[in-house]
Amino acid sequence: MTELKAQLTVDGVDKTIELPVYSGTEGPMVVDVRGLTAQGLFTYDPGFMSTASCESKITYIDGGQGTLLHRGYPIEQLAEHSTYLETCYLLLYGELPSKAEKEAFEATITSHTMVHESIADFYHGFRRDAHPMAIMCGAVGALSAFYHESLNIENEEHRVQTAIKLIAKIPTLAAMCYKFSIGQPFMYPDNSKSYAENFLHMMFGVPCEESNIKPVIARAMDRVFLLHADHEQNASTSTVRLAGSSGANPFACVASGIAALWGPAHGGANEAVLNMLYEIGDVSRIDEYIKRAKDKNDPFRLMGFGHRVYKNFDPRAKVMKQSCDEVLQELGLEDDPLLKIAKRLEQIALEDEYFIEKKLYPNVDFYSGIILKALGIPVEMFTVIFATGRTPGWVAHWHEMISGPYKIGRPRQLYTGYSKRDYVKLEDR
Ligand code: SDX
Repeated sequence: MTELKAQLTVDGVDKTIELPVYSGTEGPMVVDVRGLTAQGLFTYDPGFMSTASCESKITYIDGGQGTLLHRGYPIEQLAEHSTYLETCYLLLYGELPSKAEKEAFEATITSHTMVHESIADFYHGFRRDAHPMAIMCGAVGALSAFYHESLNIENEEHRVQTAIKLIAKIPTLAAMCYKFSIGQPFMYPDNSKSYAENFLHMMFGVPCEESNIKPVIARAMDRVFLLHADHEQNASTSTVRLAGSSGANPFACVASGIAALWGPAHGGANEAVLNMLYEIGDVSRIDEYIKRAKDKNDPFRLMGFGHRVYKNFDPRAKVMKQSCDEVLQELGLEDDPLLKIAKRLEQIALEDEYFIEKKLYPNVDFYSGIILKALGIPVEMFTVIFATGRTPGWVAHWHEMISGPYKIGRPRQLYTGYSKRDYVKLEDR
């Protein structure tokens, strides 16, 4: 990185503070503010709107252009030409695999899809109506109680093995959430199936008959996973990095990422989009909801719209919308009423001054819910699908951080509480 300089003058601080400035290969320059503490100053950035928390080579987003690159490759090209597991390899190792490397990686992932038989006992402790994200927080966190033989995080091979175990096992745990909720037996993975096919087999298969997964459904499922694989320093990935910065067990770190993803402002938005479309119910009621979304006094937000970084179309939303059309057409569901509401809602919002002025465009969650519904995935499982897809991103960022020099993440604050005061005895209060 080339080093430039920034000069900072602060009222009450008698000298100009010089700060290094770095340029990356893409994106804004960054001001290195680490020297401010020595000057008795902190930066202040709630929500980290203007903060680069780390250096990374994995994913680049240009919110103004609507660009998303994974190790330099545009998401549109990966969605068209690649597969989810190949993209997992790319995120983890930094390059597209050769044919032999791809086949070896797929075989390795396939051979790790089973989970320890004791894991099933954790599920039976939940109520049948437990939200599957609650179960996933528990089940993935529970993995930290296994695999003690490969948990020296300073050992690169152990880190890679952990990444592979998580990518391989999370779909199995995810499908087990669904099976538990409907009282059907857990399905073991079928190593003869591709990653997406196997997931659908574990979700919808039953022990008493062969699974018949339509190729169009498996291809759409694979693409949904691929479109969710990574997204720079989003809230859940930043959570995994922060948890990992203490040297915590990586399975527990990913469980913390799942917890962060659950919120409706983040990965929980896909479930919230479907619930919103159901609530709107008919295109005639869209204007009422657009009005509510613009009303400062109404907490209602148009779910699936807006993004901290994208102030243009989320490129994943464009690919998701195209896949949505293809899947629904191939399944003969092109007249899906929710799709009609979604398309009309998008059209109205994109022409509305409020959304234009605030640069609110459809994000990855807007159309994903409609595809997932068409694939037969129940709404409460949508965020679990997002977590499954995002796992390679979480583990790639964790691996990248632990592979280099890192410090425990420990932000400071602007303190506006009481200054020092003496204790008041009970009888004197
Ligand atoms: C994901 O970070 C990532 O990369 C996340 C993600 C990933 O792959 O990891 O891309 C996945 O989380 C996508 C986002 C999914 N969430 C939603 O769809 C929920 C609805 N969207 C919003 O809650 C919101 O847009 C956020 C949370 C996504 C972004 O919020 P910001 O960046 O903090 O922006 P903000 O809340 O400050 O909003 C700016 C203005 C506000 O108005 P003013 O106070 O300036 O007057 O825009 C308004 C907001 O009220 N606004 C909306 C809106 N989103 C923002 N108004 C109505 N509907 C919305 N959806």
